[in-house]
Amino acid sequence: MPTLPPGRVRVAVLISGSGSNMAALVDAARADDCPFEIALVLSNRPDAGGLAIAREKGVAVAAVDHRVFAKDREAHERAVDALLGEHGIEVVALAGYMRLLTPWLVQRWTGRMLNIHPSLLPKYPGLDTHARALAAGDVEAGCTVHLVTEGVDEGPVLAQAAVPMLADDTPASLAQRVLTAEHQLYPRALADFCRSQMRSL
Ligand code: GRF
Repeated sequence: MPTLPPGRVRVAVLISGSGSNMAALVDAARADDCPFEIALVLSNRPDAGGLAIAREKGVAVAAVDHRVFAKDREAHERAVDALLGEHGIEVVALAGYMRLLTPWLVQRWTGRMLNIHPSLLPKYPGLDTHARALAAGDVEAGCTVHLVTEGVDEGPVLAQAAVPMLADDTPASLAQRVLTAEHQLYPRALADFCRSQMRSL
């Protein structure tokens, strides 16, 4: 067995909303053998519910309000990136981060930025994934953890989990079932990623 370097991979989770995936990652990081620690939770929305949850869990939090930067997306990202640097972040996990990223940030974090998406990519990139899966009459739905590239929800897939679709599903009921699967998948996929990347970080 190759020896892993001491210390855990320092991960920042970027959120915009309720942060339930973020909470699952923070909880997973409590395990002794977890290869990552959540060193920062950052939101583009100062009022994101997930920030309070992260604070309660004892994780460092930050907000960089995108509205302050008006249409200058890259200026907002430079402020975000500066905080990532200050906190010694090695890997970024997007978790409900509702911002389109510019090529500048994507290129800076190429191979070190993950996202979770509530569909079985390449099906249904973008928004309203559950309604689209229902409208298509799919028999299963699911979620995907992938590396972030410049195309939205297009990067290489790291892991997927499928969930059954039920006859009486609504977009809301399906979203809830998929979200539960997300909470299992993201910690596992991030841990696998960190274990495989530790020697090259
Ligand atoms: C999740 O469904 C995730 O896949 C999508 O946004 C949602 C975020 O939920 N990108 P939460 O903030 O983690 O609860």
